[in-house]
Amino acid sequence: MTFDPQGQVARRIILVTGASRGIGAEVARQLTGPDVHVIINYREKHRRAEAIANEIIAAGGSASIAAADISNPVDCAHLIDLVERSFGRLDALVLNASGGLELGAAADYPMRINRDAPVRLTRSAMTVMPAGSRIVFVTSHQAHFHGAQPVPADYVPIAESKRAGEDALRAMSAEFDGAHINFTVVSGDMIDGTIIVQLLQRRDPTAVESRRAHGALPTVEQFASAIVAAVNTTVEDDTIYVGGSDYLTS
Ligand SMILES: NC(=O)c1ccc[n+]([C@@H]2O[C@H](COP(=O)([O-])OP(=O)(O)OC[C@H]3O[C@@H](n4cnc5c(N)ncnc54)[C@H](OP(=O)(O)O)[C@@H]3O)[C@@H](O)[C@H]2O)c1
Repeated sequence: MTFDPQGQVARRIILVTGASRGIGAEVARQLTGPDVHVIINYREKHRRAEAIANEIIAAGGSASIAAADISNPVDCAHLIDLVERSFGRLDALVLNASGGLELGAAADYPMRINRDAPVRLTRSAMTVMPAGSRIVFVTSHQAHFHGAQPVPADYVPIAESKRAGEDALRAMSAEFDGAHINFTVVSGDMIDGTIIVQLLQRRDPTAVESRRAHGALPTVEQFASAIVAAVNTTVEDDTIYVGGSDYLTS
């Protein structure tokens, strides 16, 4: 862990899962501030995670990295142990890591990474989260509106499993209330330039083009800033939508 212990008591400790690239990395960057220490979780891309942490530190922020495959219960337990040993508490958890489109992924992997992992990590993290903490679940419109709106065939297992993860977390609302923890879902349309959209574009170009027909896709920066707002401020609605206004009106 690359961590400067100075000032750790005064800083909010924020864990972002899957922050070695894409949206999670941009969330980590935007969270940076004098009162924040951001923990960049990643699965295997150590160098990328380290580069994000170094970028944040070079800009005057405070960051560390923590490897953990969050679909693995043992890794999950170690991750929260590490947070507790290093910082004593966790003030915000951003459930950003997601998966299922990887080549060769097992058929049960989408449910393990998108439903079971966030629920398990949330339960474990809650043991070290004080009253007033925040949990933010990051999802896509295609998952959030699954069942009500069509989804590209390749994306169905991801949409089903992410929606199942969202439902399982929402079912914990009494536990969140009891612990005085604020829970918010941030849902985005396809996000321009991300690896997932590039992958979908190759496999099913019409699926991406049909989203573009409704207007410019949100950028990584725009989506990340909505996630950061949910981490930093109390929002009235428990769901924040970014882009894809046609989803909200149909
Ligand atoms: N891309 C979109 O268009 C879009 C739209 C709406 C919502 N979202 C949501 O935004 C979030 C981030 O999407 P993204 O496009 O930025 O994803 P991404 O580029 O695929 O990045 C995934 C991140 O998650 C990490 N990760 C993957 N599997 C993991 C595991 N088992 N344990 C721990 N970390 C793991 C990766 O780490 P390594 O690099 O080490 O593998 C990486 O840091 C997801 O929840 C997604 O559903 C995305």
